[in-house]
Amino acid sequence: MFENFGSNKKRKLENSAEKEQSKPWVEKYRPKNLDEVTAQDHAVTVLKKTLESANLSHMLFYGPPGTGKTSTILALTKELFGPELMKTRVLELNASDERGISIVREKIKNFARLTVSKPSKKDLENYPCPPYKIIILDEADSMTADAQSALRRTMETYSSVTRFCMICNYITRIIDPLASRCSKFRFKSLDSSNALERLQYVATQENVKYEDGTLEKILDISAGDLRRAITLLQSASKLIDYTGTGEVTIKQIEELAGVVPTTILKKMVSKIEAKDLTELTTYVNEFIKSGWSGVAIVGQLHDYYITNEDYDANFKNKLSLMLFDTDSKLTNGTNEHIQLLNLLVKISQIQ
Ligand SMILES: Nc1ncnc2c1ncn2[C@@H]1O[C@H](COP(=O)(O)OP(=O)(O)OP(=O)(O)O)[C@@H](O)[C@H]1O
Ligand SMILES: [Mg+2]
Repeated sequence: MFENFGSNKKRKLENSAEKEQSKPWVEKYRPKNLDEVTAQDHAVTVLKKTLESANLSHMLFYGPPGTGKTSTILALTKELFGPELMKTRVLELNASDERGISIVREKIKNFARLTVSKPSKKDLENYPCPPYKIIILDEADSMTADAQSALRRTMETYSSVTRFCMICNYITRIIDPLASRCSKFRFKSLDSSNALERLQYVATQENVKYEDGTLEKILDISAGDLRRAITLLQSASKLIDYTGTGEVTIKQIEELAGVVPTTILKKMVSKIEAKDLTELTTYVNEFIKSGWSGVAIVGQLHDYYITNEDYDANFKNKLSLMLFDTDSKLTNGTNEHIQLLNLLVKISQIQ
């Protein structure tokens, strides 16, 4: 009997190890405590202070995607309550839940008015366990304005037993009266040095070998979004198994991310500068045939020209307008081939 018990337990352990293995890396390497949240020093320092006194106001986290907002609040609640008490003290709602006024009237209000559950002795020893619940409204910018208005009273009425944490990408979509009830934390997009450390850590943990400069390239492409960077690294590492090269290369990353390689970009610029219409037409034909994305190249042309000191302000001004125009037309679904040809010809004609 005992043998059986042992093997069951073992199987369970193996199962959980397997689960950990099959998790996407972004989940596997989600920061487990506030110390693991990189780069958001300001937010983390303030939140740590509140951990000491366990006195929390309503909060509003905002900032671009993949910068650690959801991770931070999850880590914070874990440090406040511990994994057990968290189950009864934290309500998390995100955009996948219904976001209309009914959810505020029913689910949120009902949870907010509940009295707080008693922590066990063990929890009390290990965690601050402050006497309130936390309601996390992730992706709060997708809540309707009505639903947001309905929240105002709830937030005030039950503030003795409940704190709210709203998370969003666009703070302008949160109505003013709600925003003014919260202390705000801005999450900035990660700059390369901070993000690089984290990415290196993931790569070492997962035993991914990579060519020099690959991680920098990944960060370049993901523009401060660490989630995108980690996902890209994971896809690239899968590719190694098929190609058998043994390491991730810059070229693979560019292909996976759909960005146009620098060599092709440079060639395009030289064709523009040659101002030969027939050649430019042939080149665009080839370019589109190779399957490169028009939207991607517009963005890359922007980065190339605007950061380049060789071009004067007048040129950059005119160019920006053209790029903007093409980009918006492409987003509206017009023909990539024609738009690109039009753009390149126009750039070549800028005086
Ligand atoms: N500051 C950070 N420190 C460490 N890891 C991070 C950080 N930001 C993002 N990550 C990584 O990216 C993943 C996604 O982060 P998270 O879900 O917190 O982003 P978010 O800011 O909530 O984005 P969104 O606005 O899209 O919801 C995490 O699982 C983690 O692996
Ligand atoms: Mg999030």
